[in-house]
Amino acid sequence: MANVVIAVDGTAASGKGTIAKKLAQHFGFHHLDSGSLYRLVALGVSEAKGDPNDESDALKAAQAIDPSKASDPRIRSAEIGRLASQVSVFPKVRAALLEYQRAFARRAPGAVIDGRDIGTIVCPDAQAKLFVDARPDIRARRRWLELKSYGDGRSEPAILAELRERDMRDAARAVAPMKPAKDAALLDTSELDIDAAFKAALALVERSLTSPPKG
Ligand code: CDP
Repeated sequence: MANVVIAVDGTAASGKGTIAKKLAQHFGFHHLDSGSLYRLVALGVSEAKGDPNDESDALKAAQAIDPSKASDPRIRSAEIGRLASQVSVFPKVRAALLEYQRAFARRAPGAVIDGRDIGTIVCPDAQAKLFVDARPDIRARRRWLELKSYGDGRSEPAILAELRERDMRDAARAVAPMKPAKDAALLDTSELDIDAAFKAALALVERSLTSPPKG
């Protein structure tokens, strides 16, 4: 049987990462946070004092990333999140990260990958696809709490403005824009805590795995 792939796309701070991690634990699958790859590229550009709006600077950083550094807390800052959405508009950067993600998707017995374009571009044949979203004010509150735990004291309104700007850039870019795959199940986590969001996600995934989406 083909490897099982679960694609979890969605907006910033929608809960997709937490849901993906819990799904992976539940099924005993590997988990990849594809956003961390773009964040590592952003960190690379920033450390090399490159220009995040220059495709060749961003590509150089993309070719040099080490995915095993995804637990580096420095990539979780709001600034790196913003830079990540800048470098991720470049087709060459996206192409440089594609094979790693596709190879990851082939890991047995299965993989859960979260991001923006997993169900559309990276793994269009995924057996289960979710698109996770929540109201912007709720997402800003969640990100505020998360950033606070990293010692970032920026205000909630500033975070909300950044999330909106990032969502707009991610949805508007020409290559691999953030959007639900045609066969993705939509999940709004605005009114759900982590447990309830996971349960809702699991129910949708189980439904897809018993009758996989048709591309
Ligand atoms: O955690 P959060 O949802 O804020 O962001 P992330 O998933 O870590 O992704 C950071 C940025 O990387 C996003 O704003 C996107 O611009 C980019 N990204 C992407 O273009 N494609 C992906 N598959 C994942 C992330």
